[in-house]
Amino acid sequence: MDDITLLKQASRQFHPSAEFVKNAAISGMDAYRALCAEAERDYQGFWARLARENLIWQKPFTKALDESDAPFYRWFEDGHLNVSYNCLDRHLVNGNADKTAIIFEADGGEVTRVTYRELHQKVCKLANGLKALGVNKGDRVVIYMPMSIEGIAAMQACARIGAIHSVVFGGFSAKSLQERIIDAGAVAVITSDEQVRGGKSLPLKSIVDQALEMGGCDEVRHVIVHRRTGNMTGQVAGRDLWLADLMAAQSELCEPEWVSAEHPLFILYTSGSTGTPKGVQHASGGFLLWAMLTMKWTFDLKPSDVFWCTADIGWVTGHSYIAYGPLAAGATEIVFEGVPTYPDAGRFWQMIEKHKATIFYTAPTAIRSLIKAADSNPDVHPQQYNLTSLRLLGSVGEPINPDAWLWYYKHIGREQCPIVDTFWQTETGGHMISPLPGATAMVPGSCTLPLPGIMIGVVDEAGRELPDGQGGILVVKRPWPSMIRDIWGDPQRFIKSYFPEELGGKLYLAGDGAIRDVDTGYFTITGRIDDVLNVSGHRMGTMEIESALVAHPLVAEAAVVGKPDTTTGESICAFVVLKRARPAGAEAQLIAAELRNWVAKEIGPIAKPKELRFGDNLPKTRSGKIMRRLLRLLAKGEAVTQDISTLENPAILEQLKEVS
Ligand code: WTA
Repeated sequence: MDDITLLKQASRQFHPSAEFVKNAAISGMDAYRALCAEAERDYQGFWARLARENLIWQKPFTKALDESDAPFYRWFEDGHLNVSYNCLDRHLVNGNADKTAIIFEADGGEVTRVTYRELHQKVCKLANGLKALGVNKGDRVVIYMPMSIEGIAAMQACARIGAIHSVVFGGFSAKSLQERIIDAGAVAVITSDEQVRGGKSLPLKSIVDQALEMGGCDEVRHVIVHRRTGNMTGQVAGRDLWLADLMAAQSELCEPEWVSAEHPLFILYTSGSTGTPKGVQHASGGFLLWAMLTMKWTFDLKPSDVFWCTADIGWVTGHSYIAYGPLAAGATEIVFEGVPTYPDAGRFWQMIEKHKATIFYTAPTAIRSLIKAADSNPDVHPQQYNLTSLRLLGSVGEPINPDAWLWYYKHIGREQCPIVDTFWQTETGGHMISPLPGATAMVPGSCTLPLPGIMIGVVDEAGRELPDGQGGILVVKRPWPSMIRDIWGDPQRFIKSYFPEELGGKLYLAGDGAIRDVDTGYFTITGRIDDVLNVSGHRMGTMEIESALVAHPLVAEAAVVGKPDTTTGESICAFVVLKRARPAGAEAQLIAAELRNWVAKEIGPIAKPKELRFGDNLPKTRSGKIMRRLLRLLAKGEAVTQDISTLENPAILEQLKEVS
């Protein structure tokens, strides 16, 4: 019997060690329940206490929550603070000025460390530079940068002057970047000449140039370029300038701009089931409170910890748990430029050993691909490395399957580290459902219990609460401080997407299905209930990919569905009807390759369909509706057993079984 099977049989629940419980911020289930009870008893008082205890206010708030314009909830609104002050300046006076804030490891392995004092100086210089260029409070700044100290400093500098950043992941195409610049109305773009990943240099600045050349980005006055590799083609005089030159002339002190807690901190674009990506808007006070507090609660952060979140700053995980939460909490954190498989698939383990990481937070996709790598190459197996510094593990972004959980627990955590399986979303700003490492008994595959103050429910399609054990729609029943405030420029879409009338207008709709266990009360996420795909923990709308495909001159019609994938969780499968006859053989291969590259150009390489199937048509009802449910079955290779009598063209199913 192998180890994993043994572990499975040993117990269904995994308990944190007595030692972990003893030292934890939330120690034991009674402490967890006491916090939940406090929130039940006096919801506003609970949040007000936490906001007062954890954040530094330049002007205290007098009221925690304003519900008068629901669902546009406002938290701590008459309080004034500055997010960057809360992340940096506070550590300069509490004895942590010379503590390492960031251990940066470049793709090639070079390490750069910055202390809180040095990071503060960098951020102040950059903030002063932005001000000198005329960037004002409330202006939008797009950040299109690789993982770097400068990328984080750019986010913090925006926060310092009250500018609203919108970070765009470096894997998005020029077109996606252009759309986001336009939607946000950005006045400046901060980028790098290139990024380096897996030993290769990839362009960034030239993609910014292309995006701006596509037109419509009329408000962009400045492109600020961080020199990463020194390879840059073309500078636009008067518009482009080097980050180092901008900073060189500036003072190391920058008085923070005190803003209302409700002042927008950032916009982050994410995919929905329909339309273009949504600009999720977050507020300064509530977002920071939860990013910081979950560092203490979920990650049990201690002053001596070395925290490593492997996400990219282009996603929400990189906002909450790289750029803001760890710094606000005064952590030392690792920031990694590269990829887990370069120079080999032992990179993560080697870095944990080298930097003595104590808390490690990654996505199930990474774990699954590293399991495969370790199985086929003993040299990169984690047992080759000394991982004894680790005391806590985390998982984020997609469901973690029990086998991956057990491997992570055994081989990375040596059966000593609790695993926090954190369920949350771009819109929620921070963790919503997760074990607390010093309290909750863990069950592989379940994100267990809501955090204190987070009121989760499972309802039916009319918003009626369902009994435990019956799967349904996951909702949040009360507003919470780090929730999305609006969709940038589209309040109607905000209401429709998140507080739909069908559910009564008061429940926050997450877009996921969930089931609550009868005995334990534990939640298990059953997957998206809309047309959003989760590929390698990256969120994508099927509609976006379909729109990209039909924009190609050869394509008449396209339907995209998700297909379960043992490594990436889900993969993209596209069914395509061409304007000409259905291709076969080598021609089909050629066109499929062409369409994949097309999607990469339209959206980004992460949106490339793994599988493309060509048909003369798509399965449709007599009223012309595409039957995606059937396409999902075909993608999985499963037989269609249900009644297809409502189908206009049943014969098409046979044809679409074939992969090109
Ligand atoms: C999924 C990422 C199961 C879910 C932080 C959610 C998860 C979407 C988990 C949000 C988890 C995230 N277990 N599913 N622990 N964490 N998800 O906005 O479908 O990129 O709605 O935020 O990822 O993805 P997003």
